[in-house]
Amino acid sequence: MTNPVTAVAPANIALIKYWGMTDPTAVLPANPSLSMTLSRCVSHCTAEKLDAAGEDELWWRTPDGGTVPAPAPIADGIRRHLLRLRGDEGPALRITTGNTFPTAAGIASSASGFTALTLAVTTLLGRQPDPADLSVLSRLSGSGSAARSAYGGYVRWPGTPEDPSSAAAPVLDADAFPLCDVIAVVDNEPKEISSREGHRRAVTSPYFSRRLETLPARTATVERALREGDFAALAEAVEQEAVDLHLIAMSAGPPVFYWQPATVALLALARELRADGLDVCATIDAGPNVHLLTTAAHRDQVMDAVTATPGVLTTIADETGTGPYLTDAHLTR
Ligand code: PMV
Repeated sequence: MTNPVTAVAPANIALIKYWGMTDPTAVLPANPSLSMTLSRCVSHCTAEKLDAAGEDELWWRTPDGGTVPAPAPIADGIRRHLLRLRGDEGPALRITTGNTFPTAAGIASSASGFTALTLAVTTLLGRQPDPADLSVLSRLSGSGSAARSAYGGYVRWPGTPEDPSSAAAPVLDADAFPLCDVIAVVDNEPKEISSREGHRRAVTSPYFSRRLETLPARTATVERALREGDFAALAEAVEQEAVDLHLIAMSAGPPVFYWQPATVALLALARELRADGLDVCATIDAGPNVHLLTTAAHRDQVMDAVTATPGVLTTIADETGTGPYLTDAHLTR
């Protein structure tokens, strides 16, 4: 394999969320989840073997195109994952990575980041992972949702203890039901409570077991709606699910409260636009930022309404994507 290797991997937005774990070491979830892979919210990662033995070099690509030493929390996560992928005997590596969107703000930057890192490093080391291997290895980084970033389109991560490898698998191709995702960024900063901590606290919510009981029916509704292109059914189930996750988070002990005033305003906006006849629904991962899923025909109207909402800092126009890939467009210093 050539040196360097560069991988691009997508974030994903969960339609049915993973919240709570059965096994934090194996990163196994309390429930199956289902997501849409994104196209423009991606991480890039270039991995190179260094000539001299010694320490790995870890670099971070800033939003303005500069390259700086990777900030401590990101560097720690990369180091731990490198140990898993390469062991402590392999060659020293230079890793340069960055995102096209805000980091650790609840837009799945850890899913895309660890999938890009996993694909770049395993390819550089000659392992040529297939998507199922990539799914399993990326998830073991600790970001469970990374299991789903190994594929394009719509992806299910069963995560049941009966399947010890627990790879995610594709449900539907991107072009079978292409959707647009208007992402309303209401906070660019990394969230105060990590999703890892949120997963840990989930079981303390008195509503958690009720959530697990209701999920199989909601998951089946979402899968059916995707296969049949039934936006109305999808919208209802996706919004119920988003609110349900945050209900569990807010009622945990101690509570995990991600919403801001603009988050609530955007949930109301989605309901209003739907009442006006637009295909749109809102969903929120672990953070205050809101994804408004819509169709190409209604995207511009949704974008205008979102942009005009007080508290929205920026918007990202994304859509269903086709999954990770390797490229020759290396990140150089
Ligand atoms: O993969 P993690 O540990 O970042 O957790 C993801 C949690 C949610 O984004 C809220 C839900 C999901 O399934 O992506």
